[in-house]
Amino acid sequence: MEKQFKRTLITTALPYANGPVHIGHLAGVYVPADIYARYLRLKGEEVILIGGSDEHGVPIALKAKAEGITPQEVVDRYHSIIKKSFEDFGITFDIYSRTTSEMHHQTASDFFRTLYEKGEFIEKTSEQYYDEEAKQFLADRYITGTCPHCGNERAYGDQCEACGTSLSAMDLIDPKSAITGSIPVKKETKHWYLPLDKHEPFLREWILEGHKEWKSNVYGQCKSWLDMGLQPRAVSRDLDWGIPVPVEGAEGKVLYVWFDAPIGYISNTKELLPDTWEKWWKDPETKMIHFIGKDNIVFHCIVFPSMLKAEGSYNLPENVPANEFLNLEGDKISTSRNWAVWLNEYLEDLPGKQDVLRYVLTANAPETKDNDFTWKDFQARNNNELVAILGNFVNRAMVLTQKYFDGKVPACGELTEYDKQTLADFAHVKSAVERLLDTFHFREAQKEAMNLARIGNKYLADTEPWKLAKTDRNRVATILNISLQITANLAIVFEPFLPFSMKKLLAMLNVENFGWNRLGATDLLEAGHSLNTPELLFEKIEDSVINAQVQKLLDTKKANEEANYKANPIRETITFDDFTKLDIRVGTVLECTKVPKADKLLQFKIDDGLGATRTIVSGIAQHYSPEELVGKQICFIANLAPRKLKGIVSEGMILSAENFDGKLAVVMPEKAVKPGSEVK
Ligand code: MF3
Ligand code: ZN
Repeated sequence: MEKQFKRTLITTALPYANGPVHIGHLAGVYVPADIYARYLRLKGEEVILIGGSDEHGVPIALKAKAEGITPQEVVDRYHSIIKKSFEDFGITFDIYSRTTSEMHHQTASDFFRTLYEKGEFIEKTSEQYYDEEAKQFLADRYITGTCPHCGNERAYGDQCEACGTSLSAMDLIDPKSAITGSIPVKKETKHWYLPLDKHEPFLREWILEGHKEWKSNVYGQCKSWLDMGLQPRAVSRDLDWGIPVPVEGAEGKVLYVWFDAPIGYISNTKELLPDTWEKWWKDPETKMIHFIGKDNIVFHCIVFPSMLKAEGSYNLPENVPANEFLNLEGDKISTSRNWAVWLNEYLEDLPGKQDVLRYVLTANAPETKDNDFTWKDFQARNNNELVAILGNFVNRAMVLTQKYFDGKVPACGELTEYDKQTLADFAHVKSAVERLLDTFHFREAQKEAMNLARIGNKYLADTEPWKLAKTDRNRVATILNISLQITANLAIVFEPFLPFSMKKLLAMLNVENFGWNRLGATDLLEAGHSLNTPELLFEKIEDSVINAQVQKLLDTKKANEEANYKANPIRETITFDDFTKLDIRVGTVLECTKVPKADKLLQFKIDDGLGATRTIVSGIAQHYSPEELVGKQICFIANLAPRKLKGIVSEGMILSAENFDGKLAVVMPEKAVKPGSEVK
């Protein structure tokens, strides 16, 4: 038996206020959330859409340091840019607030204190790196050093960006403080932990048994976390930017950003509805839906629900329709590499084209797998779908009515079999679109909507009313009446997807609003109703516009390459003796296999020509499949001290060239040589 709810609370991940928002944010979270909210509102349901900026955390503190300004100045700048972008794209937040607000500090503090007093935390003292010059503990991001997995010398304490492994600062070889460059020392510090392990049995039951309907990517990620076993998670940090830990003995400590940020959903609801917020969070007849990207799944399905459960009086989410990632022209979107289409820049370059982007991002939404945004596809979808199908149909129906009936809806006469069949075709649109939207299949839902325009186009093409104008005016009246009813249906069904254009269309139809519930009706426009002068809903996008956008990205690529080169200058001079210490040899790959549970690593068996078979583990699995390398000759460092990677002893290192974009190419001798040959 499906649960019945009275109202829906929709939350959207709070974007970090350390940069503008880009198409990936829009595609993954905000457009689907807005479609869903608009749809429910059109149906007359009680719904609120909550958003806001996530303004704490180490990256913001680091950015401020790098720019010589305060963290507050950083978040002030980006909060207003982000907020404006969302308004510009028609994301209908009921509130868009921020985690530096008074209300949020209070709410998050209280939440922590409640859990603290209920004994829901454990306190643990552990050793952490401390910078004696800066007199502060170093968050993992503040420490750089050599990655123990791939040897990258510029790995961060939380992650190595070269091989993608998550690290803990204590794993780094030769750690250095990013603040002063000094060598950090280990020092004891106390933190509060949320014992996720304690909530594990509940979570297993609630998600794995109770929410089998969740999207498979979400359910699968939860299952794999739960199967690995949950550990207590620290909810405080030694940092000077954030919400102070509100208990005694916590000087210099703040709430971990992932503890405070989701509480922002609560704070923002309170700010919006100071008197009635509780019914949105605590009444079991409220359905809560979190819209997020895939990197947020664990926090929204495991950590935040554990916090809410521990508190005891809150609802848990009913669904978490997380999306995968959107790539841009084949590469991962990256704020630091400026590889993105920024929403503010998009609107400068393509003013008024909000709906085109909304449409393309939904058509290409990364709902079940990562997807790629390309400018060519953007142009094609605009020209071949929005202009050629939707815009063209609406325009023909309107213009023909202007021409033959002076802009007044003509009366419908007797229906032919074909008319009846056409009407039957769009009668099912409502239930089809609803079923898809109710289950978060936004791209399919939009496709259904577009099908209605296709039906209309085909109907006009088949019936050719312009040929009958002189001979059979009654027939023309019927055809145009049907076409206009289809047009009115389009205005309803596309409203959640293309709100700007549908507003325009409603104005052209001279109608305030039809209401979602009349979708599928064939008497939306009465005979005699006057229409306004038609305007084009969409316009063709020329090659020159697209080429300019592609050029912009090529320029970014070039700038990144130059910056990389500068960041990677030739190292200090060494002597010939230094060089001869390196023993580089050629080996033949005998076997190559993936290392289980390590998506970056390949394990090699190499014939090193020296009478033995060497095992070497190398972080190139993202760049080669094992089959590609078997039988090939490679170069390797033969006298590197053995190192353990994922429990395998690696006896050397395979040489590869790293392209500016991070892609690796294994170095191979130009002709076959005997294994064991020296490289010098
Ligand atoms: N700022 C996070 C991100 O961009 C999302 C925070 S969602 C919230 O990945 F729930 F914590 F608010
Ligand atoms: Zn690494």
